[in-house]
Amino acid sequence: MEKKHKVKNLIRPWDDWAKSWEHTTSPSRPTKAEIAVYKKACDKYLRGRKNTRVLIFGATPELRDLVSGYPGAQVTVADINMVMIKAMTLLTKKAKTDKEVWIKGDWIRLPLPEKHFDLILGDFTFENLPFRLHRKYFENVHRWLKDSGCYAGRFFVFREKYSPYSFDELALSARGKKLDSAFLNQFWTIGAFFLGRMKTKEIVVADFVRLLEKNRKNPVISKILKQGSYFFPPDKRWFIWLASELKAMIGDLFLAREAGYDRRINMPKQYRDLAPVWFLSKK
Ligand SMILES: C[S@@+](CC[C@H](N)C(=O)[O-])C[C@H]1O[C@@H](n2cnc3c(N)ncnc32)[C@H](O)[C@@H]1O
Repeated sequence: MEKKHKVKNLIRPWDDWAKSWEHTTSPSRPTKAEIAVYKKACDKYLRGRKNTRVLIFGATPELRDLVSGYPGAQVTVADINMVMIKAMTLLTKKAKTDKEVWIKGDWIRLPLPEKHFDLILGDFTFENLPFRLHRKYFENVHRWLKDSGCYAGRFFVFREKYSPYSFDELALSARGKKLDSAFLNQFWTIGAFFLGRMKTKEIVVADFVRLLEKNRKNPVISKILKQGSYFFPPDKRWFIWLASELKAMIGDLFLAREAGYDRRINMPKQYRDLAPVWFLSKK
């Protein structure tokens, strides 16, 4: 019963989000510059090679389009939610989706062979799992990668140098702005992730929703709520690390390198390195 409930928690918020994913922009979706960083890993591990194997965690359309440029690669897409796989498939532009292998399953429990993949890709993935499962996630990646393989993934991290936004500052920053998708993506990301102390911690969207509701009389907030309703599913949670602590947690398994980030990501200047693409090679 308890296990069922937990899996439901991982699936349900995405059922709602799948419908509005096309309105989701940076930072939740990868930009061209971020895909260019992923491409460096693809070039190194897939270019000019036959019979390579790529595993994508989640059904991210941009990653599936990217790997379609490497004809020797067999692509496996693994996501716990078939609604998301199907919705994301509609957003692909180049991917040969009929040639992909789709697995509906939990990254923590996938029945995959050891040392099987040349490359594993994932755009904000383990952040969706509770902290107690993060180590297992990385042990799985380690087990499923060939010894010579690589994991490339965008990880959302906090940094010691970040200072928090206040709610008033956030509301003020919205005055006179065009409330389009890019604005709403940034507004909700700051609100959910950057209002409190930025240590390794659980992000609870409902906390930000409560603040918005409390300030509903503020004309800007009321306009934002009308326009975007709840832009993030109110029952969504993420589990975010300080970059230095994350590196230490996986340090015995991987050599972890921040391979690059988009300096023009849709976030205030001080947070622009919140989501680098990391390359992990096996130790
Ligand atoms: C790739 S993630 C990234 C999306 C978003 N950028 C974010 O910040 O969370 C989203 C996908 O992960 C899937 N997912 C979440 N937890 C999962 C799990 N334990 N196993 C497999 N797929 C999972 C969801 O169904 C969803 O399609």
